[in-house]
Amino acid sequence: MQKLLGVIFKIVQMTASFFDRTINGHRLGAPEYLGDPYPEYERLLARGSMIRTYVVGGWSVLGFDAVSAVLTDPRISSDLMKNPTIRRMYRMSSGGDSRILKNPLMLSMDPPEHSRLRKLARGGFLHKFVQSLEPKIRRLTNQCLDRVESQKQIDLISVLARPLPAMLISDLIGVEVSDRDRFRTLAEVFLQNVTVIEFSALEKADKAMGEMLDFMENIVEGKRNNLGDDLISLLITADTDGEKLSSREVTRMCVLLMAAGYETTTRLIGNAVYLLLQNPDQLQDLRSDPKLIPQAVEEVLRFEPPVQTTTRTATEDMEILGGHIRKHQTIILVIAAANRDPTANDNPQEFNIHREKINHIAFGHGIHLCLGAELARLETRIALEVLLERYPIIRLDTGTPKWEQSYLMRGLDELPLRIS
Ligand code: HEM
Repeated sequence: MQKLLGVIFKIVQMTASFFDRTINGHRLGAPEYLGDPYPEYERLLARGSMIRTYVVGGWSVLGFDAVSAVLTDPRISSDLMKNPTIRRMYRMSSGGDSRILKNPLMLSMDPPEHSRLRKLARGGFLHKFVQSLEPKIRRLTNQCLDRVESQKQIDLISVLARPLPAMLISDLIGVEVSDRDRFRTLAEVFLQNVTVIEFSALEKADKAMGEMLDFMENIVEGKRNNLGDDLISLLITADTDGEKLSSREVTRMCVLLMAAGYETTTRLIGNAVYLLLQNPDQLQDLRSDPKLIPQAVEEVLRFEPPVQTTTRTATEDMEILGGHIRKHQTIILVIAAANRDPTANDNPQEFNIHREKINHIAFGHGIHLCLGAELARLETRIALEVLLERYPIIRLDTGTPKWEQSYLMRGLDELPLRIS
């Protein structure tokens, strides 16, 4: 039965995708533009801020002001349960028992539930705490590079961009070294499959979510009797006006932090190094004046945002910027297109770390604004500082860097470098 539904679903998707191609909708995730989605975004944006996307039965929003407006509109929800199409897809792909639907993460919640959880989680990301991590991040960065001390050729992604955020977030949460690779793989499988509009991919994402929850539940239970100065202990003891997180909520929060905090930062570090190597004059400017590094990180976030899209659902019929959105329709917010909207940044297709003002929404906007933004910025700044300090010469090695094939995330799977 599930197989038959899968086939029917595939036919519906193919028909919708045909509509997107022929009547010029957003060809979401079409393989021919995943390698470089920006010409497609520029073409769509020239037609308007909002474009139909039949493959999700809804809309894509591409303009900077439009994306910002949708992200702050209380009639538009982050809750997956309010989207019958998504709900049905998850249910069917998991045989009716979706761990993703049963375990909503803060990211897919609306107020007042979201506000309560966010208030409790915020304590783990206070400015003073995040900044106190600088020596640890520098030490971890050097450790990663010490391992390849004698090598002249490295893959930056496997040597630094992947292990650094994984080590840091596992360390903060309190995941044992021996368990880190397992969790890292599960988080990767989850993120790679969760937005693929296909039964088998959603099944894999759901399974990975189940395993992450089981895995984290054991760690949280262990911590309850052995509180320390890690993030889990902080979440267990967090208290606002007598309100505390339940064990299940702490577990889900840790899964969210591991999933949201690891691959995103990997992508940012990789994208930053790649863009600077593509623009050697600007790399030289950073070597001459490392104080420019934070600004360069902002331009990387604008130009190649690791999170390219996010999704919402309309909770009522409404009119936004000339688009008639109907209740329950899916809305894809294309952060990557918005960051290159000419109304937000002059010469948006140019990578320029010297821009006077850099407007971007790479960390989202509104109530779900990324909790880990300061941490991700800090890790990337330190990674760049240490790389420039240690290697007077860094070049792209031969071969074409491999971009991840996803419309959710954008980053390099491999970045071969020559260093000395
Ligand atoms: C370059 C790195 C990162 C990028 C580009 C990024 C991007 C984003 C974006 C776009 C959102 C909002 C999504 C939406 O509104 O649907 C978000 C939310 C979130 N991010 Fe990040 N993120 C990064 C790193 C991190 C890190 C390091 C952590 C934590 C360790 C983290 C934790 C979160 C959490 C908890 C939320 C949900 C906030 C809420 O629902 O209120 N992120 N992130």
